[in-house]
Amino acid sequence: MELLERYRLKPDPFLEGSDLQSKVEVFFNTLDKKDIYQHTIEVLEELELHKLRYSLDTTTYERCKIGVLLHDVGRVIPAETVFDFCESFGYIATNCEKNAPSILHQICSRFLAEFVFNIKDEAVLEAIECHTTLKAEPSLIAKIVHLSDKTSWKEKEDQPLVKKLREATDLDEALFIYQKHMYDQRHEMKCYHPWSYAAYLILKEKVEGRQSVEESE
Ligand SMILES: [Fe+2]
Ligand SMILES: [Fe+2]
Repeated sequence: MELLERYRLKPDPFLEGSDLQSKVEVFFNTLDKKDIYQHTIEVLEELELHKLRYSLDTTTYERCKIGVLLHDVGRVIPAETVFDFCESFGYIATNCEKNAPSILHQICSRFLAEFVFNIKDEAVLEAIECHTTLKAEPSLIAKIVHLSDKTSWKEKEDQPLVKKLREATDLDEALFIYQKHMYDQRHEMKCYHPWSYAAYLILKEKVEGRQSVEESE
């Protein structure tokens, strides 16, 4: 694909690995992004924990694993070309995203997953596309990929939040804790994404609605 060649993302060299993880490793090594590969491995470790915590079946786990392996491949697209890159694939950045272009790496990852790594599973592609922000009514795969990314955070100041995410009583509660955290900080953010706001409103109704039913019982 000519467009991928223009971004030095010609698929052939990245497809030499025997399995997807090896291909992703070659991809990041070739583009001198070993740190992103390391992060990807850490998110995979989180996925293993959530697999047990949320009793994922093998098929769901395997689909989540593809999502995790490819969730950050879009971070190789340089900030100065990210708008052009997205537009080339038909995605026009919103004004909110223009204020915080790094958020677009989730969209870039989706296109690279589809056109470089040849993933056609729409639920996996959608999980990759919203792994940073989440979106309204996400699939189970999208929820798990998103949560695995967040609980992988290693910065000291993030650990109280990570602890709360790990200790949530169920998956929706964990997602709500994260979305509420984002919502509470929305005025300090360069782009509080409308997909996050939509996810927040729906999760709020689900989780708080459930809690008030439990209290009245
Ligand atoms: Fe990401
Ligand atoms: Fe990530």
